[in-house]
Amino acid sequence: MSSDYELKYTPGPTYEEMANPAKLPPAVRQAALKAAAQELDPLNLFNITWLNEKNEPRYVVLPRELTGTRANIIVLTACAFPSGSHKVGPAYATMAEAEALGKVTHDMTIIGPSTGNFGIGTAYIARLKGFKSIVVMPEGMSAERYERIRKYGGDLILTPGSESDVILVLERVVEFKHDPTKLVLGQFELMPNYRFHRHTTGQAALAAASRVGNGKIAAFVSAPGSAGTIAAGDAIKEKFPDATIVAVEPKECSTLSSGGRGTHRIEGIGDKMVTLIHNVLNTDYVLAVHDDHTVQGLYIFHELGAEGLGDLVGARLDGNRLSEYLCATCACSKEAFDFYRKCFGISSICNIMGAIRTAHFLGLGEGDNVVTIATDGFDRYPSVMRDLEQRVGRPIDRSLMAQWFEEIFRRWSPADFVDVRSPEEKERLFRMKEETWLNFEYTKDYLDKMKSQAFWDEEYALIPKMDEAIAELRERSGTWPPVK
Ligand SMILES: Cc1ncc(COP(=O)(O)O)c(C=O)c1O
Repeated sequence: MSSDYELKYTPGPTYEEMANPAKLPPAVRQAALKAAAQELDPLNLFNITWLNEKNEPRYVVLPRELTGTRANIIVLTACAFPSGSHKVGPAYATMAEAEALGKVTHDMTIIGPSTGNFGIGTAYIARLKGFKSIVVMPEGMSAERYERIRKYGGDLILTPGSESDVILVLERVVEFKHDPTKLVLGQFELMPNYRFHRHTTGQAALAAASRVGNGKIAAFVSAPGSAGTIAAGDAIKEKFPDATIVAVEPKECSTLSSGGRGTHRIEGIGDKMVTLIHNVLNTDYVLAVHDDHTVQGLYIFHELGAEGLGDLVGARLDGNRLSEYLCATCACSKEAFDFYRKCFGISSICNIMGAIRTAHFLGLGEGDNVVTIATDGFDRYPSVMRDLEQRVGRPIDRSLMAQWFEEIFRRWSPADFVDVRSPEEKERLFRMKEETWLNFEYTKDYLDKMKSQAFWDEEYALIPKMDEAIAELRERSGTWPPVK
């Protein structure tokens, strides 16, 4: 006899199926791919994966004319994830674990503490699974983020400030953690975020790199917000222990490199803290970039379009086609440039700048691979582009964009990299973690355990158990498979 909860349960994938959707029953996989055209069809839960319909990771290798380095800059692109960003993955994983562990009832409201994309993911998952949701986020984020959350039926609680004021979001959410009618998907502190990225993003990064250059990963670059994505670094280091993991942050909010806590414009990253789920042991360098360069970089990609950008970097655009959401070549095709225009957002430019600078800093060359991430696409930023135009206060013409391009994609300084590999630096980062998290009901004992890689490996090793619990719930609820 099914419980009340099970009767209304909406099934979704296990971690292993997200990492490798070919493991889904073929009818489910096919039905989910078809459902992608109807974004509110719950079968889209099975499209939470980095892999395309051919079970290949979605990525592009940027043309060298653009990057100015001979190393391969591989960008995993997340814009094809349901809801338009890979942040839907940790939102789903956190919810799926809570359901499988019997912590959810149908009258609960799902809470998403966020600066936007995780909130969009929370509202989306809640909608597909038939729950109410509330996203708690700062008031100063892009208008498009709020619109999307409302479109998915999410309510909003806005806290003062912008990206770097996430601690106010955490404070606002504390009361909900103790409310039995609420389920908080705490991305900054709960391990499903770590598990999702170490497993699925890690495997996607390895699979993408295996098709490019020497097949290895020399460096992985990720600008942390919750620091979920950078957990892919643990999977990468397991396979390539010499890989270098670089966290990028805004110079204006240089928390990881020097304890800085200013406001900045790179939405989604740089949250003025070391998040609880950041395994700082895996992070080798912190690179600081100017926040406005990332906004200007996106402007260039968008306003110049394929031909203009091609002209700027001296590339002759050829007619090569990208297979859907995938470009395994460094071709300067018009289609590739059009794709960047659509599928890169501000933090994508930040990550790409970081990847290019990392290639220079590490002296990488022909055959070497640097992997990074495009977390969301342009759809969230038209209002930010208009804001940039107003701030510049004069027409942004080609010569200004050419000047910006030079500054953003060609110049770099080794002084912008801070080496955080030493025990002293790790201790500094641990102390910063304590400064924040002892205020949020975590004990010193728990935080101390995080100082050992064994803690992270044990958390990661829980995936088969979680997957078993998710699969059992699917069976018990009689909802599996959702299509025959
Ligand atoms: C646009 C954008 N980029 C990057 C990130 C950082 O990803 P993570 O939270 O996994 O560190 C986020 C997180 O919300 C984001 O929204």
